[in-house]
Amino acid sequence: MNKRLFSIGLALLLGAGYGVTAFAQAKPEVLVKQRVAVMILHGKYWGPLSGMNQGKVPYNAEIVARNAGFLDALSQMPWDGFQPSTKDQKTNALPAIYENPAKFKEAQDRYRGAIGKLVAASKGGDEGAFKAAAGEVGKSCGGCHESFREKL
Ligand code: HEC
Repeated sequence: MNKRLFSIGLALLLGAGYGVTAFAQAKPEVLVKQRVAVMILHGKYWGPLSGMNQGKVPYNAEIVARNAGFLDALSQMPWDGFQPSTKDQKTNALPAIYENPAKFKEAQDRYRGAIGKLVAASKGGDEGAFKAAAGEVGKSCGGCHESFREKL
């Protein structure tokens, strides 16, 4: 085999291996930064929808549809960052997350279900359907924070 090609192949192989290992052993402080970043983006894209739901911001079907799509992706991201290795980091995550992982998972599932309904409701452009779905989302954010996040 051509020597240069072989070393490129080897580099790719090692690179792929390194990627997997780096993921499995992500540093606790990195995991925390990533999951908090995702949560902050939740705040960014949920904020206007929450405002519309409360009548503080005029209803805008386009923004609802766009933000619902963003939240659909974001709502899948934070959870693998709550590893027991991050327990001793200074964060707003409560120990209950690691003491009762099944309940934490339930809160995620409830939230993911609510986001699914929000995405479906956002497709019709109907304000009433949006508000019904948005109410559920708000409750599932708040419900999880109530049990699993430090009071801010
Ligand atoms: C299943 C649980 C859960 C759900 C659902 C959830 N969050 Fe969070 N959220 C957390 C936890 C836990 C933290 C603290 C993370 C940390 O500090 O490591 C957090 C942190 C945050 C923060 C950052 C503030 C801080 O702690 O520094 C914001 C903003 C936020 N969440 C917004 C939202 C919004 C908006 C929704 C819904 C659209 C939502 N969250 C849904 C669990 C959840």
